Amino acid sequence: MRTLIQTLGALALTAALCASTALGPAAAAEEIPRLARRGDATQLLVDGKPFLILGGELGNSTASSLPYLQKQWPTLKALNLNTVLAPVQWDQVEPVEGRFDFTVVDGVIAQARASDMRLVLLWFGAWKNSMSTYTPAWVKRDGQRFPLARSAQGQAQEILSPAAPATLAADARAFAALMAHLKAVDGDRHTVIMVQVENEIGMLPSARDHSPAAEAEFRKPVPAAVLKATGKTGSGNWEQVFGKSPATDELYQAWTYGRFVEGLARAGASAYPLPMYVNAALNKPGVAPGGYPSAGPLPHLYAVWKAAAPSVFQAPDIYYPDFTHWAAQYDRPDNPLFLPEADRAGKVEAPANAFWAIGEHDAIGFSPFAIETISDPAGNPLTGAYALLDELTPVLLAHQGKGVTRGFRPPVSFEGVVDETPQTAKMGDWTVKVSFVDPWTPRDKQVFTAHGGLVIRLSADEFLVAGSGITLTFGEGVGLEKVTEGRFVDGAWVEGRWLNGDETHQGRHVRLEPGRFQTQRVKLYRY
Ligand code: DGJ
Repeated sequence: MRTLIQTLGALALTAALCASTALGPAAAAEEIPRLARRGDATQLLVDGKPFLILGGELGNSTASSLPYLQKQWPTLKALNLNTVLAPVQWDQVEPVEGRFDFTVVDGVIAQARASDMRLVLLWFGAWKNSMSTYTPAWVKRDGQRFPLARSAQGQAQEILSPAAPATLAADARAFAALMAHLKAVDGDRHTVIMVQVENEIGMLPSARDHSPAAEAEFRKPVPAAVLKATGKTGSGNWEQVFGKSPATDELYQAWTYGRFVEGLARAGASAYPLPMYVNAALNKPGVAPGGYPSAGPLPHLYAVWKAAAPSVFQAPDIYYPDFTHWAAQYDRPDNPLFLPEADRAGKVEAPANAFWAIGEHDAIGFSPFAIETISDPAGNPLTGAYALLDELTPVLLAHQGKGVTRGFRPPVSFEGVVDETPQTAKMGDWTVKVSFVDPWTPRDKQVFTAHGGLVIRLSADEFLVAGSGITLTFGEGVGLEKVTEGRFVDGAWVEGRWLNGDETHQGRHVRLEPGRFQTQRVKLYRY
């Protein structure tokens, strides 16, 4: 059975990632949102066209009450979001076993449509942040049928054991019912473009589940797929192959969680195959498994998760300052970068992170958490950043996957130390040097974490530069033939001022001043 699920899962992802085929307009309108490989990037296609998620995730409880949610849309609109990430909770949709109530889901979709917004729905099923607090009462109260995970000391945790087949069956049935409902009410509109399976799965306070069923599993031979994913050649149970350690416990648990998620994803996809992903609560460096929510889709567990759950892709929730370090590890040939929780909303570095992730790693979307808590959208830098990214989307997505886009922002260490050293990148025949210290602003007035942008090489000698607080130079013997500021309107460049004098320091640099987001078009020549 496992082999069958695995094979089908691999086929599902292959299909999901297959190259885009040429479709007529009618076919495109019918097309279910999907992931498609384009050059060396993976794009999200919505209605047959590449789509960039300029998103924000709602606080956990906001979408559980339609009147409460209704009041948030002016803020969400004012922030220039095109997509809202909203939870759907199991206890609310299946209060009585087998009886589904999608009133709130339908209301969320209707409200999103009224605001011309897309949705990514987050399935808060068996687990949310490790715990099992979103399960219906009939699950919570039936520990016989739905056993809890146990710590190494044998203490029951408020975490459902993923080793229990009845739990997978119940969660998968509910998730499949949700997906079938989405197909029925939204299959022709695609307001919902993607689905997150569970939320921040992780085992605590031990790295693995010690419930009786899990203990029995742990003593069985390591599955061949795990050996392959980890490059091991031996045979035997988990401790015989990998040794006795918290890392082995976590590996086993990751496989078990991954298989559970694959079961859910396959059940959901057989009803309605939207793109699906899982999100990770990142591990604190230097802490052993068990000391953090263990066994989620973490960078060091990527391969085993991919082997266990090929039908979903993996995404990081980044609340640490070293955003670039974590995000880069999720951009892989078989995994697009998506940032469902790019720190809490309102952080000054959010726009620079978004420009960098999109320019450097072809991110399919960016989304700070608790987005509705931004009380002053007009005064928040994300608003201008998203407006600019929205303008740029057609040109950006048309150039993705061709190796002609780069992103720049100063990296920050885990401890919060900013490295504002200039960065250089080879783009075509040119070497682009990007500085983050603005030459014309007093140093003590600059917030370097807010500085960043992206560069697209449009042709052999022409570039688009977008962002804020970055200055570009191109080396000895390279001059600026023409630099203009401008905007994209419906995908077409509308030229503004020509910048030959002070704005380019008489041809010495291209400068995007700090404090506002803008685009400049740059043509180079050699002298
Ligand atoms: C990460 C979780 O995924 C969210 O649902 C929320 O609990 C935030 N943490 C709170 O910071």
